Amino acid sequence: MNQDSAQRLRFDDPGTLADWHNTLALLRTHDPVHWDEGIGAWIVTRHADVKAGLFNRDLSSRGPSAFMDLLDAAGQRELRELRSFYEHWMVFSDSPYHERVRTCVQRVLTPRAVERRRAHVREEARRLADAATGRPVDLYAEFSRPLAVRVICDLLDIPVEDWEEFSVWSRDLIAFISTPRPEPALGRIALDSYHATVDYVRRAAKDLRARGLVENPILAVEDLGEAAMVATFAQFLTGGCDPISAAIGNAVATLLAHPAELRLVRDDDTLVGSALEECLRFETPFTIIPKVARTDTVVGDVHLPAGSRIHFSIAAANRDPEVFPDPDRFTVTRTPNPHLGFGLGAHYCIGAGLARVELAEAVRALADGRARWQPAGTPTWVSSFGLRSVATVPARIEPV
Ligand code: HEM
Repeated sequence: MNQDSAQRLRFDDPGTLADWHNTLALLRTHDPVHWDEGIGAWIVTRHADVKAGLFNRDLSSRGPSAFMDLLDAAGQRELRELRSFYEHWMVFSDSPYHERVRTCVQRVLTPRAVERRRAHVREEARRLADAATGRPVDLYAEFSRPLAVRVICDLLDIPVEDWEEFSVWSRDLIAFISTPRPEPALGRIALDSYHATVDYVRRAAKDLRARGLVENPILAVEDLGEAAMVATFAQFLTGGCDPISAAIGNAVATLLAHPAELRLVRDDDTLVGSALEECLRFETPFTIIPKVARTDTVVGDVHLPAGSRIHFSIAAANRDPEVFPDPDRFTVTRTPNPHLGFGLGAHYCIGAGLARVELAEAVRALADGRARWQPAGTPTWVSSFGLRSVATVPARIEPV
């Protein structure tokens, strides 16, 4: 593999994703600011360039708007409402709107508010582990995913029983903006899910007000109007479930695959914190942060014109040997560990504190010595352009 093969890589080719870590390493070494003809965007893979990019004020977060500009005029007209909807998501907006929403939502996720949730998260993790004990189990389906779902439903004050419906909306809303180029058919499906989300938020807001549940993300942004409420709900459904299900699943699979490292955590609870950071670095769930150049700008040593779409690969940055000695080695004692798994800058993950609590309690359940967790087969992985996650983690939990 050389510079030539790196330059020819296209992320619209599923084969490119099959050899995930090697592909990213190839780009980082030979073509760190890569023009990808298939998706019509730049892909940036070195830690220093990604870090600088996330602080670069010439770059906007309004990726979906630039993405929808690629639709023809009829498509743009048909999906106009959808465009405005995405523009109200915090993650896809710029200041001053972004700052206003973030300030309101932060109230719900202060360190103290997050810490108050720890006992519930621990209890859920233990309950799920106990329920999975003594038989063959897929830890993604029976531990990681349900833990993430329960915690986000609790945060949003919504019934767990409604989750199946929410997960369909969440999947549709993300599917449309996850393809290399906009597909109108997926846009129509996303539009239906958007309408369903609006109806739900209207009803939920009334109910939350009646129950006095003001410490809720939907009501936290009420002063900014209904569009902000709907977008915030959607942002939490998507941002609060898929990456954390993936992060917990990836952490469980990685620790089970490295028994000596798991033993270190089992013997010393103070290693839980550094272990979870290493899991996020080693198998980064949310892999890409998309931006759009507002003006001509420089990324790495490449001059990019205004309007360029740029994908910062935090997954590639997290294995950059310039920053992480022996980057392909998983080691729970790694410090410092300046991974970019939660992003950086103005859009740094607002759920990072909660995600760390969930990961810590998941790792504790795995390592606390109440039961012995053993792999019972090889995990399967799905690597889409934006998310890397285990799909199944076959295992057995035996009581000790
Ligand atoms: C381990 C799990 C998680 C990972 C890996 C993760 C990753 C990320 C990343 C990389 C960003 C930055 C995106 C950007 O700069 O464009 C982000 C933003 C965000 N995350 Fe997370 N996240 C996780 C869990 C959560 C949870 C549990 C929540 C909700 C409680 C959440 C809510 C958000 C929100 C609302 C933003 C947008 C912040 C903003 O635009 O200001 N995330 N997340």
